[in-house]
Amino acid sequence: MGGRPASGPAAPAWWQRGAVYQVYPRSFADADGDGVGDLRGLAAHLDHLSELRVEAVWLSPIFTSPMADYGYDVANYCDVDPLFGTLEDLDRLVESCHERGIRVVLDWVPNHTSDRHPWFEASRGSRDDAKRDWYVWRDGVDGGPPNDWVSAFEAVGPAWSFDERSGQWYLHSFMAEQPDLNWDNPEVEAAMHDVLRFWLERDIDGFRLDAIVKIAKDPLLRSNGSAALRHHESWGSIHERLRGIRRVVDEYPDRMIVGEVDAWDLHGLVSFLKGGDQLHLAHNLLIKEMPWQPEAFAASIEDFEELTEGTAWPAWFFSNHDMSRAASRFDEGGQGAARARALLLMLYALRGTPFIYQGEELGLPDAVVPPERVVDVDGRDPERAPLPWRPPSEAGPGAGFTDGEPWLPIVDDAESLCVARQAADAGSTLALTRRLAALRAAEPALQGGDQRPCDLGHTVLAWTRGDAFLAAVNFAAEPVGVALPEGAALVLSTDPGREGEAPVTLQPAEAVLLRLPS
Ligand code: NOJ
Repeated sequence: MGGRPASGPAAPAWWQRGAVYQVYPRSFADADGDGVGDLRGLAAHLDHLSELRVEAVWLSPIFTSPMADYGYDVANYCDVDPLFGTLEDLDRLVESCHERGIRVVLDWVPNHTSDRHPWFEASRGSRDDAKRDWYVWRDGVDGGPPNDWVSAFEAVGPAWSFDERSGQWYLHSFMAEQPDLNWDNPEVEAAMHDVLRFWLERDIDGFRLDAIVKIAKDPLLRSNGSAALRHHESWGSIHERLRGIRRVVDEYPDRMIVGEVDAWDLHGLVSFLKGGDQLHLAHNLLIKEMPWQPEAFAASIEDFEELTEGTAWPAWFFSNHDMSRAASRFDEGGQGAARARALLLMLYALRGTPFIYQGEELGLPDAVVPPERVVDVDGRDPERAPLPWRPPSEAGPGAGFTDGEPWLPIVDDAESLCVARQAADAGSTLALTRRLAALRAAEPALQGGDQRPCDLGHTVLAWTRGDAFLAAVNFAAEPVGVALPEGAALVLSTDPGREGEAPVTLQPAEAVLLRLPS
């Protein structure tokens, strides 16, 4: 297996320098024509990632899975699902990525397995099985489930299902096909650590920790009722468990863990990062609910800096496979496309690691999914639509994603939004993203420079990076005049029509990056 790329001699670390690009493998590129993306499809499109200068690619789960939750229901943590390819395909992919200086991050799903995982099959087999306690089994109360916990998926309802055979209820924080592992059992913790080691030995550079708050629950399984604490997640034991995970990852040099942290507030989020012995990075799911308002963004950015006093490193993301794409989510008044471009500038110019969800570099909106093609239990099909690579007029209805029938509909207007068309257009969102990525790669101030808020009026979010750069985003639906520092020079604008002089007026949802005079 090829060597892992070396880190530069100086800080920042690889996971701070540039973007982590999230691939949702089912929808990235399909090499075998079955309508579902696969590893060979991804391997054939690595040039796209290189042109975006990504530091790392994060793959949503590619493990053996019955696909009830499209891979987040794992039946074997140490193999690749045949739908995606083989373990050898993955090894080859990792090697090719490393040759290009791209790290590979896998999605580790520690809270639950598939109900078809041999561990669960043994556990449900009998109350006396050695694996019984690897999952959370309880007697019901008054003919109903053991407590009031509900699934994270509204459509599922209670987080418990009754198992006729063994006469008890088992816990599932998501679908019934995703039984929760019992992390209070040290054997489970050790087995999941071994899964990490299996992949670390295969040169995997890091992990995204799925639903990590769920691996620590009230061991007494008390109902939430109106309690101030959540009993079903983020229990106090979480920090020791994170330290255990971090110790395993630290057995190997230069690896990274980023957690999906569904915290109540930033205090909660920051508690997962403190001390340098837990997560390297945390995805703040509060961002999902953030409105298009400068105060909301400012609070999220500045409070993080305040609370961590610069000791933790932020991770920024505005889209992923679980939330409506930014171009659709923020589309009030038809401004979605412009706002999506402004968000790209924010991702690359804010202090922190940019996480780019496949298609975000194209400014893709959500796809329209008619009722008869809905497949996800939680309404997430529109943001998971396949990536359009080529114009359907040339490549056929699969838009270069597949020669077969795509598992989800392709986004509307693939003709002009596809990679090939945008690559040929200097004013496209893809061209903008490539410029932003190149700038970040070339400018240490955009990577590690300190960050200070700047007052350019109440509708404008503005900040400096080191002494070198000023970024400004107009959140208003109208043009807004800005008084920029004397001598500030325009580096780039998200408005494709803007060129030359530093602006005195920012267009609606326009974001600019300026170089400050030295
Ligand atoms: C979070 C993942 O991002 C989501 O897609 C999945 O359904 C749940 N965790 C359960 O694994």
